[in-house]
Amino acid sequence: MNLADLNKVALAMVAPGKGLLAADESSGTIKKRFDAINVVSTEESRRDYREMLFRSTEAMAQYISGVILYDETFWQNAKDGTPLVRLIEQAGAIPGIKVDEGTQALPGCPGELVTAGLDNLAARLKKYYDSGARFAKWRAVIDIGGSGTGGPKIPTMTAIHVNAHALARYAALCQAAQIVPIVEPEVLMDGDHDIERCYEVTQRVLNKTFQELRIQRVALEGMILKPNMAIAGKKSSKQASVAEVAEKTIRLLKACVPAAVPGIAFLSGGQSDEDATAHLDAMNRIGNLPWRLSFSYGRALQAAPQKAWSGKAENVAAGQLAFNHRARMNSLASKGEWKAELETGKAR
Ligand code: 13P
Repeated sequence: MNLADLNKVALAMVAPGKGLLAADESSGTIKKRFDAINVVSTEESRRDYREMLFRSTEAMAQYISGVILYDETFWQNAKDGTPLVRLIEQAGAIPGIKVDEGTQALPGCPGELVTAGLDNLAARLKKYYDSGARFAKWRAVIDIGGSGTGGPKIPTMTAIHVNAHALARYAALCQAAQIVPIVEPEVLMDGDHDIERCYEVTQRVLNKTFQELRIQRVALEGMILKPNMAIAGKKSSKQASVAEVAEKTIRLLKACVPAAVPGIAFLSGGQSDEDATAHLDAMNRIGNLPWRLSFSYGRALQAAPQKAWSGKAENVAAGQLAFNHRARMNSLASKGEWKAELETGKAR
């Protein structure tokens, strides 16, 4: 492992004013997104859609540091035959690859999941590196449940432990293959829990994750953390303000994330586009942080372009405009320079 080079890539992934595009939806997830805009999900429509994003020149050159790809996309060519990976490189961004293989039920822990994909991972990483991938992603999923509803109180320590262990196994294998691991322990915002409970669960998850990373000798300087924010569940009647989300998330991260980690790139997790931007902006306005704080958004970058595109070739320019706009808003937020007025599109 060459740690200086890993660190260089990690810093480039969170370069000032830039963040990551998570375009690594599995075939099942992208089908759901396409269903919502009445587009049939085929190998070709998935390619056309992603090619539209990667050819968005303003966003890709100025606001997007790297793109997380799904295996199918990683090996696909653009309509003119150029590999999509080369398109991303030519645009000035770094290609990355999701290497986990989704979740499975965790035995003995009803309602909980563990992420799979460690089998043959070393060999897969080598193939991806040889074809241009310089970073990877693995997502662990932690659900919060049972808060006052009589259901099982989850997450269990078992689920937190096995997921943290797998994240660290993956991260160590990535670094051995000269690939920067994005370590993503996602605490879901699907429940009715309040921000305090999200804080408490995320704290346990992050502490366990960093404990495992240390045990498995992962070099913190050569990784990126992709966490959820401290935020109330979508079904909670007690939604927190932007200022409270920002203040609590920063407090939480300062308590759990060592300063040796070069960057933190948040997932959007189902927040509205504007909330995801406003929260990131408010955190960067607090300032004085030991790590760079940016975005690695999927839905919050893609919902608008998906709608504008709607599967029609004549809408490609509109889709790219929508993508450029969201990428620019999040770029500003990563510097603490976003303003709500900019969302109208008038104040460019
Ligand atoms: P969202 O921003 O839609 O949560 O997606 C980010 C991601 O990569 C989840 O693994």
